[in-house]
Amino acid sequence: MAEFTPVNIVQIGYGYWGTNVARNIMQSRKTNMIAISDAVPARLDAAKNVYGSAISDYTADYEKYLDDPKVDAFALVIQTEPSFEVAKKILKAGKHLFIEKPMASDTARAVELTRLAHENHVVLHTDHIMIFHPIIRYIKKMYDEGELGDLIYFDISRMNLGPIRRDVNAMLDLAVHDLAVIDYISGGKEPYHVEAIGETHYGNQETLTYLTLKYEGFLAHIKSSWISPIKERRTMIGGTKKMVIFDDMKTMDKLSIFDQGIIETGEEYGPYEFKARSGDITIPYIAQEDALRNSIEHFADCIREGRESLANGEQGIKVIRILDRAKEALIASNQN
Ligand SMILES: NC(=O)c1ccc[n+]([C@@H]2O[C@H](COP(=O)([O-])OP(=O)(O)OC[C@H]3O[C@@H](n4cnc5c(N)ncnc54)[C@H](O)[C@@H]3O)[C@@H](O)[C@H]2O)c1
Repeated sequence: MAEFTPVNIVQIGYGYWGTNVARNIMQSRKTNMIAISDAVPARLDAAKNVYGSAISDYTADYEKYLDDPKVDAFALVIQTEPSFEVAKKILKAGKHLFIEKPMASDTARAVELTRLAHENHVVLHTDHIMIFHPIIRYIKKMYDEGELGDLIYFDISRMNLGPIRRDVNAMLDLAVHDLAVIDYISGGKEPYHVEAIGETHYGNQETLTYLTLKYEGFLAHIKSSWISPIKERRTMIGGTKKMVIFDDMKTMDKLSIFDQGIIETGEEYGPYEFKARSGDITIPYIAQEDALRNSIEHFADCIREGRESLANGEQGIKVIRILDRAKEALIASNQN
């Protein structure tokens, strides 16, 4: 097998999530960390304490790397609102960009970043981590091979206690993952009807949102919460042939497949025209993989092979476009 030349990356942002991104960049043989940048000195000290001399530079000044030829790419792991201006600089400098979700705070910004990526012939990859999760990939394969039948519904809960973000609401923070999953599994379908309600309990953004979407052939209901006493990551998908429940909070046996559904009896004038069909419940063995590692390595593969990411600008735009419509629906629902 040909030796893989690692992609040289500068990471910007070493906050809560940045520690996970850095660990994976450091551990993968496909990536090499050139520097970690953060605007807050204490965060740079925190990174230095973990990686010491394994990384040659900890700096507040990422801009010095924009025209450094040894740098292939940037991983942008800062809050959503300020990330737009930084992302533009990176793309204009002709560097590949791994950007945290949500890719932007609105569609116009997502379109602008995608345009810049195309113009500068670089890979733009949004960290829609769930589409790189082995279980979501397994479900996608089941659907593509006809095992689920037609999609009927997605019922998804993504709930935890905090953090209360200031620049995005719970929907932008959390439902973004689920919208990317629906886009990925359904083969790029977009909803024709979007409803959303939410409430701001703390801070200035909705802390709890319920999003309901109507796609051609199926419904989706997505609960996003920062004020739940328990952490829940549960995706139930109904198909006409089988149904699945993916519970990401379980340590193992995360996916249950229900060979169950509703069948027509053909007895038009009998007591029941339809009846429940019960069948096996199976728990497949799916090897554990780190979705974040997969996301980072997919980004590196795309750079090396000169191809588009699965989580490219177009997917980012589609997801943000739904969230923009949902934001409008949220505002309308508040005007009672
Ligand atoms: N993919 C996922 O599953 C996932 C999970 C959690 C968070 N995230 C995303 O990661 C991003 C960061 O979230 P977080 O919880 O780590 O936030 P955070 O506030 O903990 O960390 C952000 C860090 O970025 C630094 N920073 C901000 N602006 C900067 C700039 N211009 N230059 C250098 N450093 C700068 C801050 O000092 C801070 O250390 C958000 O976009 C969030 O949505 C993604």
